[in-house]
Amino acid sequence: MKIDIDLVPKDQRKEKPTDVLEVPFGTVFSDHMFSMRHDGTSWKDARIHPYSPLSLEPAALCLHYGQGIFEGLKAYRRGEKVLLFRPEMNFQRLNASAERMVMPFIDVDFALHSLKELLKIDSDWVPEVLGSSLYIRPTMIATEPKLGVRPSSEYLYYVILSPVGPYFKEGFAPVKIYVSDKYVRAVKGGTGAAKAVGNYAASLLAGTDATKVGYSQVLWLDALERKWIEEVGTMNLFVRFDDEVVTPPLSGSILPGITRASVLTLVKDYGLTPKERMVSIDEVIEGISSGKVKEIFGCGTAAIIAPVGSLWYKGIPYEVSNGQTGELTQKLFDDLIGIQSGEREDPHGWVVPVE
Ligand code: PLP
Ligand code: COI
Repeated sequence: MKIDIDLVPKDQRKEKPTDVLEVPFGTVFSDHMFSMRHDGTSWKDARIHPYSPLSLEPAALCLHYGQGIFEGLKAYRRGEKVLLFRPEMNFQRLNASAERMVMPFIDVDFALHSLKELLKIDSDWVPEVLGSSLYIRPTMIATEPKLGVRPSSEYLYYVILSPVGPYFKEGFAPVKIYVSDKYVRAVKGGTGAAKAVGNYAASLLAGTDATKVGYSQVLWLDALERKWIEEVGTMNLFVRFDDEVVTPPLSGSILPGITRASVLTLVKDYGLTPKERMVSIDEVIEGISSGKVKEIFGCGTAAIIAPVGSLWYKGIPYEVSNGQTGELTQKLFDDLIGIQSGEREDPHGWVVPVE
């Protein structure tokens, strides 16, 4: 499909942030965006055009019943080069989310091609400083105006770009995680494994509980027993018990993270044996008390590798790794960010140049 291009005149382009590491996550957007629409038969009207408000019918199905999905990936700068990290996995996951939400598939090759074209146009929005990147948000929403509950016959797919530094207000310092035993995020058979917009709305109330006690993120437990750890609001979770590095399995209620998959590979490269197994919150709390839990960290595109310095469970705060960043966590952070930004060798061929 041909992409029509409508550029913002050079003298009307926006100012870029002077210190991207200080910009709150996802608040500044580049000059251009990509969009195309689906009319029930096929995708059409592929365009790169100025970043601008959408025009939607008030009855658009996404606004009423949440038929919407999204992705998150990043572009990194290495000198003149712009690099992506395993981008095809994001588009494959978008299609997996589309299947769950009865939405149309996109062609992975075309999605990557159109993203690269957009990035070439807005390449000077990709920041250089280590720890920063251009966050990419592909989004698909149901646009048919109709109040009946059923799959839409029309969709909009669009991609916007936002220069970002750290996701958490703590920067890259250890984050404090609140274990929710009152609310749940997802249940097997539900939409937890899809990147569906409603999953995030459902997480907000527990987030306000966390904020009340000075915590920033929520760790979800399984919906049936409230016993097994699942994932954090925007990250998958790893626990290091002595030399065993563990993450919960992809049970159908957590997001299959691309960073999670990459961490599993890197941990193997280090000569350790990562395990995907169920971990109860009791095992974690006992392990913290006995010293068997050496480190806990979350991982995700926005969060990169985030050390966990403290867990709040049933009204009690538990300090992890003396509130410091553990050794393995730091190594994974350095290696991952090094590979993503093209500074370190990429033995698995994860990095895709925009050219
Ligand atoms: N879990 C949830 C709920 C997320 O929103 C994210 C972020 O996308 C992740 C995990 C991590 O996934 P990824 O590593 O693909 O960014
Ligand atoms: C990401 O890591 O890309 C996410 O989707 C997290 C987020 C919802 C900001």
